[in-house]
Amino acid sequence: MIFYHKMLKSIKKMDFITPYIKNLQIDKSKFLEPSPIIQQRCQELIIDDKTTLKLMDLVLHEVNRGLSKKENKDADIKCYVTYIQDLPNGKERGKFLALDLGGTNFRVLIIHLKGENDFEMQSKIYAVPQNIMLGSGEQLFDHIAECLANFMREHNVYAERLPLGFTFSFPLLQLGLTKGLLVRWTKGFNCEGVVGEDVVQLLKDAIARRGDVQIDVCAILNDTTGTLMSCAWKNHNCKIGLIVGTGSNACYVEKIKNVENWDGPPSDKTHVLINTEWGAFGDNGVLDFIRTEYDREIDENSINRGKQIQEKMISGMYMGELARLVIYKFTKEGLLFNGVDSESLRKRFLFFTKYVSEIESDKPGNYTNCMQVMDELGLTNVTEQDCANVRYICECVSSRAAHLVSAGIAALINKMDEPSVTVGVDGSVYRFHPKFHDLMMKRIRQFVKPEISFDLMLSEDGSGRGAALVAAVACREEGRV
Ligand code: BGC
Repeated sequence: MIFYHKMLKSIKKMDFITPYIKNLQIDKSKFLEPSPIIQQRCQELIIDDKTTLKLMDLVLHEVNRGLSKKENKDADIKCYVTYIQDLPNGKERGKFLALDLGGTNFRVLIIHLKGENDFEMQSKIYAVPQNIMLGSGEQLFDHIAECLANFMREHNVYAERLPLGFTFSFPLLQLGLTKGLLVRWTKGFNCEGVVGEDVVQLLKDAIARRGDVQIDVCAILNDTTGTLMSCAWKNHNCKIGLIVGTGSNACYVEKIKNVENWDGPPSDKTHVLINTEWGAFGDNGVLDFIRTEYDREIDENSINRGKQIQEKMISGMYMGELARLVIYKFTKEGLLFNGVDSESLRKRFLFFTKYVSEIESDKPGNYTNCMQVMDELGLTNVTEQDCANVRYICECVSSRAAHLVSAGIAALINKMDEPSVTVGVDGSVYRFHPKFHDLMMKRIRQFVKPEISFDLMLSEDGSGRGAALVAAVACREEGRV
């Protein structure tokens, strides 16, 4: 009886609320729309359904070429074999060191896997100064070895010889689990004398030069691989690893029979992880039909001109700069801020990628974050209409990135043709952008075969824990732990 009473009360409350909600909806329609001219000029940044289908075809074509022995050399998506064939089972045990190089920071970690999905982890972030990012390879690896030695001292494992997993998030031509030749630098790194070299050897040499610590490098891996492994540790359905951070890339589980470019000793296993290195998609011009003048400008001013074309349209290293280029151009044309720019708006890379997320996090009709960002950029006399326009520009840039990523993931899921796939995802853009996940879910669902179910799962600390897991699985296979 009491329950019935409560229900009646709440229905009455709802009756009272409904007109109010309706009013809210009417108010909503009064929220400022971006100006028609801004919408029209941003049209070229929109990836519609037809384009998505075309992109999926192109991705699949390049992936197949990458896997083929004959066509690999001309493929844009190289599909590097990682030689990782065993996924973790959650029971891995032992103490491992991990190094993580390739994002904004360099990290050293110690991870204690305790079996049954239990672990303890401690880590420290070290800066990689610009002079080291652009210096000699020897300097870089000496810096890594020094950070590692300091970390081992601080964690009282200085005298131990621990197994180590090295997450090195650049394109590597792997010749086995512990041998990988750097193909090219990406993401603002350009250290001399490393391309074409075995980076595991360079690490070992640097450690030997110091002569104080000892380690046992069990595996070298990509951050996408670490992300997949870290996710697969808990969720055995995880078969794709994706990064949308400073850079962008994906790896996936492929059937050995499709991997013609396998160069290792014959394997009796059925699957292997493939590092697609899809950041280079478009280097041969196949993405020119969607590239804009802003993309070309980003590329022209980069240290790796003509390379990593898709990455430059997606990743966090460039997203803010892309938005800035659009905003700056429209300002110069008098379409924004009454034609008045600021010194910061003129300067490259001062419109940070985090601004895009902040601006898009404002509630509809509210421009608090946007105003704050405009203020930080020294823009004065900013109107609400300017904010609605700036927000729209940010949405176009970030949605384009999400839709490019979605086309790639949908193509991979359809290719794998498994009934159900979990995608482990990491990276600052995916993590912090308020809508990236939803945009991806929607677009992928639209283009994945209807009978396949899929999920996107945030993968906690793939580069760290994933490295330990790869090392653990490698040691397990060799019977070391
Ligand atoms: C690198 C990849 C990496 C990705 C994400 C790209 O620039 O080439 O190896 O996985 O960034 O960090």
